[in-house]
Amino acid sequence: MRLDKYLSDSTDMSRKDIKSLIRKKAVTINGEIASKPETQIKDGDAVMVNGQEVTYKKFVYLILNKPSGYVSATEDKKYPVVTDLVPEEYRHFDVFCAGRLDIDTEGLLILTNDGEFVHEITSPKKNVYKKYYAELDKPLDSADVDAFACGMEFKDFTAKPARLTICNETSAYVEIAEGKFHQVKRMFERVGKTVTYLKRVSIGGYALPCDLALGGIIEIDKDTLANLIYSEV
Ligand code: URA
Repeated sequence: MRLDKYLSDSTDMSRKDIKSLIRKKAVTINGEIASKPETQIKDGDAVMVNGQEVTYKKFVYLILNKPSGYVSATEDKKYPVVTDLVPEEYRHFDVFCAGRLDIDTEGLLILTNDGEFVHEITSPKKNVYKKYYAELDKPLDSADVDAFACGMEFKDFTAKPARLTICNETSAYVEIAEGKFHQVKRMFERVGKTVTYLKRVSIGGYALPCDLALGGIIEIDKDTLANLIYSEV
């Protein structure tokens, strides 16, 4: 791969910035000053800019604790979007959402620029369960647990059996295999309840870190994330 591509994929520098740094002799490859943007970089080469090593990175995987009020999109005419919360250092990766949460839903949202990864974890074939914490306007009972466990027929899809675990009278954890539009809210509506608060707490075996503040973002390594997600399917 060319030196300028290596640096532009891995950092927020433009090709113009890179050219200028090369001209200023600020870029080295294995300790030698780089003189041309088109120099080929091989596996194992150490590329440094101003004495700082730059490791190659094409894709990035971010975990967001989504706050209410943000749309799960990269742009919206009316409301702020989740990508507004992405720190400057990750902006050039042009991340998008792996699945969606409603504007008023909080919690775990994966942001990445790796489309293949998104396809994999959101594919219904993978049977990755998503777990939500929900608060309701009315008390829950065991009939609701049974109704969720039987699966539900909607006009646009059939929800696979879902696991409902009642926490107290008006709150519960619910685990669903799909991620259809307003699915959790629609399933509760079916049993006569309105969701007053909703938060996604895990995807497969990956749980939202409890020390990640609302609106906070952390980077995670792809293999760690994938292994945890698939550790519980
Ligand atoms: N189900 C919903 O109803 N809303 C969400 O945001 C996610 C799942």
